[in-house]
Amino acid sequence: MRAVAVAPGKVILYGEHFVVYNVPAIVMAIDRVVKVSVSPREDGSLRICSDLGFACEYSDGDVKPIMGGKKAVTFLEPVRIAARTVLEYFNEKKGLSIDVHSAIPSSVGLGSSGAISVATVAAVSKVLGHEISKEQVWRLSLRAERYVHVTPSGIDPLVSTYGGLLVWRIQDGTKPKKINRDIEIVVGNTGIQRSTGKFVSMVGRKKTKKIEGISQLMGVMSWISNLALKAFKEMDIVTLGALMNMNHELLRIIGVSNESLDRLVEATRKAGALGSKLTGGGGGGCMISLTTLSKRAAVCKAIKENGGQPMIVRKNNAGVKAWLVKN
Ligand code: MEV
Repeated sequence: MRAVAVAPGKVILYGEHFVVYNVPAIVMAIDRVVKVSVSPREDGSLRICSDLGFACEYSDGDVKPIMGGKKAVTFLEPVRIAARTVLEYFNEKKGLSIDVHSAIPSSVGLGSSGAISVATVAAVSKVLGHEISKEQVWRLSLRAERYVHVTPSGIDPLVSTYGGLLVWRIQDGTKPKKINRDIEIVVGNTGIQRSTGKFVSMVGRKKTKKIEGISQLMGVMSWISNLALKAFKEMDIVTLGALMNMNHELLRIIGVSNESLDRLVEATRKAGALGSKLTGGGGGGCMISLTTLSKRAAVCKAIKENGGQPMIVRKNNAGVKAWLVKN
């Protein structure tokens, strides 16, 4: 018997980084998922394998890379932490084989690590025979998320767990509010992989030192997110686009954009996007555009011509799902 879980990635439409400081953010689960398969092992060891070319075996406190060298140890660490957290939570000592397949590009701000942690928690619980709520899945995935994002808000595993288009701030805990709207987003991937944790820490240092007026910008970002929520209610996509543009300027001020992102943002606006901004941790990774259908092809073309890779994403409503499969 093995368990399989799928969980979606995400795009943050408004409020990344600021969400770490309890500012409301709006985030959408996307139709790109990771799939994690887990089966029990007789020898009591843990073996994790990813289709990105990494594999490790863990036994008696030792780790042995089987594929991908030292990088495999770092890359697979969140999966190991997520699996360990579930084993400890249920006080189980079983060995496990975990296979990770991802259709979400990694380290580019689309929530692949959050989705992998969430799917691992759900699949490991399932194979051990424990039914857990979505709230527990989210809570148990946070330890792995902390390894990746250092001081995360928890928004990535949250949207991966619940799915949908959500407005959330830290103090809402496990109660995100669903926005019942459907939109399509054009993503532009710069192809530059980077660590979200590094940028979260950098913003944290600037906030502590009170530089660049970050505390005051928190108020501006709350205002943008609240206006975006109102614009969603009225489905006022022109305002939604303008608010994305404003959000990008705030992200530039706090220092998380870069030349490649700014170039794609600028080019997509010129090609007719209603609004464009970076999405996720910044420093590379992806940007997003909101466009009308008639401008979509031109926006995708602008992304390609400026060195990016375009991709259209839609809402995933289901969030994480896990089931058992007979071998
Ligand atoms: C990363 O997808 C979103 C950040 O706001 C970090 C977090 O909230 O954990 C940059």
